[in-house]
Amino acid sequence: MTHDATVIAQMRQLIQLIAKHNHAYYVMDQPTIEDSEYDQLFHQLKALEQKYPEAIQADSPINKVGGQPLSKFDSITHVVPMLSLGNVFNKEDLFAFAKRIEERLPNQKIEYDVELKFDGLAISLWYENGVLVRGVTRGDGEMGEDITQNVKTIRNLPKVLSTTTGSVPTLLEVRGEVLMPKAGFEKLNSENEAKGEKTFANPRNAAAGSLRQLDPNIAASRPLAFYAYGIAQCQPHHGQTTMSASLDWLTQFGFAIGEKHFICDSIQDVQAIYEQMIIDRPRLLVEIDGMVIKVNDLKQQQTLGFLSREPRWATAYKFPAVAALTTVDNIDWQVGRTGTITPVARLNPVAVGGVTVSNVTLHNIGEIHRLDVRVGDTVSVYRSGDVIPKVEKVWPEFRPVDAVEVQLPKCCPVCESPIVMPEGEALARCSGGLYCAAQRIEAIRHFVSRKAMDIEGLGDRWAESLLHLNLLNDVADIYHLHEHREKLLTIEKMGEKSVQNLMDSIENSKKTSFSNFIFALGIRGVGETTARMLANTFQTLDALRTADLEALKKTPDVGDITAEWIIDFFQAPHNLEVLDRLLAAGIHWDAPTAPTRQPLNGESWVVTGTLASMGRDDATQLLQALGARVSGSVSSKTKRVVAGEKAGSKLDRAEKLGIPVLNEEQFIALMKEHGQIQD
Ligand code: IVH
Repeated sequence: MTHDATVIAQMRQLIQLIAKHNHAYYVMDQPTIEDSEYDQLFHQLKALEQKYPEAIQADSPINKVGGQPLSKFDSITHVVPMLSLGNVFNKEDLFAFAKRIEERLPNQKIEYDVELKFDGLAISLWYENGVLVRGVTRGDGEMGEDITQNVKTIRNLPKVLSTTTGSVPTLLEVRGEVLMPKAGFEKLNSENEAKGEKTFANPRNAAAGSLRQLDPNIAASRPLAFYAYGIAQCQPHHGQTTMSASLDWLTQFGFAIGEKHFICDSIQDVQAIYEQMIIDRPRLLVEIDGMVIKVNDLKQQQTLGFLSREPRWATAYKFPAVAALTTVDNIDWQVGRTGTITPVARLNPVAVGGVTVSNVTLHNIGEIHRLDVRVGDTVSVYRSGDVIPKVEKVWPEFRPVDAVEVQLPKCCPVCESPIVMPEGEALARCSGGLYCAAQRIEAIRHFVSRKAMDIEGLGDRWAESLLHLNLLNDVADIYHLHEHREKLLTIEKMGEKSVQNLMDSIENSKKTSFSNFIFALGIRGVGETTARMLANTFQTLDALRTADLEALKKTPDVGDITAEWIIDFFQAPHNLEVLDRLLAAGIHWDAPTAPTRQPLNGESWVVTGTLASMGRDDATQLLQALGARVSGSVSSKTKRVVAGEKAGSKLDRAEKLGIPVLNEEQFIALMKEHGQIQD
């Protein structure tokens, strides 16, 4: 074996291992190795690629993500149109479908291929000489959108075809469905909920939203999967004679096909499979909305052909939508970990498609108004597969005279702090961020994080145990933990040494900076930069907590909504109590020196590309120290751009807009001039 061949073999082995673990992690949601071991595989491959760039494999995951965001998708005409399927909804329709086929194929044995009907988005994939060159949405069937960049981030989809058992076609166009497997969907939604971000109503919306992202990095972060269900073109011909064999043939290249498919000798068998799948459906890894019934023999398919825009040889057999009527007994308000207030309808328990439903989320007060649902109302509850049930419709004709209209409560049901909802926001939130028991764990994790109070170990290692022991009712209790040494020692793995380290770390955190302290409070919308601007502008906590809306809105980096969140935060009495206790515990920072002149005050700067002498974070901090705002995108408001090596679209845009650009040398000179960097 030549040296090159060894390197390539190693690379291929690593790529295959990484792909296998990606599948286990993202699609099955069952990681089979530790994160650190996975990172090692990744680094090993990266190191090999750095050493032997000429051997980099086209399907390497290393630089897979990181494509540039697009401004829009290009339109592409499908060479073979992407047609749709007819539908049948019951046994009679299904048998009529079979009868039409039998009449066109007299005296022939007919076999049916029965597949899952994936509830996602149809796409077409082009492979030229085994390399994925294009991914296109179905669009209107004639013309779709070029989503190649996003498609390339789908982990279970082969980017390069290789096989040990045959040759690779010169042209292969595979059709199939992109979807988000249930496990990934649930994980994404619960992560988004914890972050206070938007959740998706069902896996289909989540998949569609992810594929439509112009920024491939976002698509890459979503657990999408591709399942093949057909071959539109193959040169040379694959040689298979049946639908099911052609799908099996695809699997040799690494394509996933449905986790179940069946071959039936009679239409009665098809019906039996369909009925069984209604029962098995909740246990599948992916969401389906029916079965697809196809004539298995490819020659017979050809004979049958198409009727207008649908094949005569296939039909979708949809599952019945499951809905049931019940009444709303009450509406409760739940507080999420980031303070979002969500209405939940308590229902008179009702069976919907074999599952008893007694609670259903109504998402937000806007949804309550849209449905006009009242306590006492009769509603239809709808469930598709095992997706979260939802209220589909209210029946005003059954409304009792004493039905009660629903109002957003004024106070948090958990901590009684005021509930606030700035104009233009869909979600209401509890303002007792530092105090509210529902938000405790997030508030603590944030408070102790590195860029806030920087108390090492507390957030990721001990926070949950301390909460269980009732030692942390709010963040101020952190500074009283030393009074509970004995209790701390009862925590598993917490020995004398860990207790001492934790105590030291807590003690050291008492000396901080005003801006870190503001950031630590976890006020909505107040990130690190905003905290720094608030610290610079108001200089003292007293000035900040008594600032009025107008003064806050004038602060650089503070938008109208954030200004309102700040006011709400400092108006919640419990937050003020916690603040006082924090200060009483000895948290302090250096008094402001006379306000320094800020030469770049209020200017908007952008840093792009790679700087040789420092990271982009360092450059950002230097600029911020001089009063500049550092933004992630170039606009007409940008004052200057600092461009390092390999600066891409941001530099182009700056040049287009005529915005002055500084190279690294000029940037460093400027920083020296302002005393930020010593000679
Ligand atoms: S075969 C000529 N097989 O259903 C059309 N389609 O209504 C051949 N779909 O947009 C389509 N699962 O995205 C086929 N196993 C499956 C499918 C499937 C889902 C979707 C497909 C299409 C729609 C047709």
